[in-house]
Amino acid sequence: MSVHKEVKKVTTHVLQEMKLKGEKIAMLTGYDYTMAKILDKAGIDIILVGDSASNVMAGFETTLPITLDHMIYHASSVIRAVDRALVVVDLPFGSYQGNSKEALSSAIRIMKESGGHAVKLEGGKEIIESIERILSAGIPVMGHLGLTPQSIYKFGTYTVRAKQEEEANQLIEDAKLLEKTGCFALVLEKIPAELAKKVADSIKIPVIGIGAGNGVDGQVLVSHDMLGINNEFNPRFLRKYHNLFEEMLGSFQSYISDVRSGDFPNEKEQY
Ligand code: KIV
Repeated sequence: MSVHKEVKKVTTHVLQEMKLKGEKIAMLTGYDYTMAKILDKAGIDIILVGDSASNVMAGFETTLPITLDHMIYHASSVIRAVDRALVVVDLPFGSYQGNSKEALSSAIRIMKESGGHAVKLEGGKEIIESIERILSAGIPVMGHLGLTPQSIYKFGTYTVRAKQEEEANQLIEDAKLLEKTGCFALVLEKIPAELAKKVADSIKIPVIGIGAGNGVDGQVLVSHDMLGINNEFNPRFLRKYHNLFEEMLGSFQSYISDVRSGDFPNEKEQY
């Protein structure tokens, strides 16, 4: 008798059905095998191998320095852990904006070398050729509008985007263009909730929000932020489910003190 359990994998089609049925999509970031194992077991729908790895894993101030090789390393670690979730991998800064040929070869490297299921790119009409070319190779693309951290030096700050009418109208136009071009989903980051709902209601592909309110089709957070491992990032949109920074600090301090006092290891903890 086989003990192999069939797992219903999350695909881009499953996500589309979820939107149609009004079921909310849960997405979190993952950058390594151990965390991805827990995320997948918890039942997360999408694991985003975000270029936020540049901040969270590598300690850079922005997402700009992370490379395609780094992203492939993180994504392949995540893929080895996952049975069910859809794994979306960010194309890093500089790997797709220049020309569509380079964008395609970057996306192909991600798919071939990491085994990821889809890629995410930041931007609207200015990168549409790159998106078209990637899609033409059969690689699913998730869009990302609103606050796009790879353009931080253009924006100058990480404040809420599209509060003014002109930027809001441009965002709506870009969202419709991304849908028309064939993106399977769209991330909206840090924009007014009312605008995000308007976008989600006016396009058929799922819209996943981060700091974009509750009127969208799903939510994404950076796992390290929602676990409270990173205690330096406290935006209004973030719900912290733990204060792991303090808990881990306490555990490390207890270990150090047990080693120093000679309490660890005890008789049961040796051979
Ligand atoms: O890189 C990332 O983690 C992201 C999310 C914040 C959406 O793009």
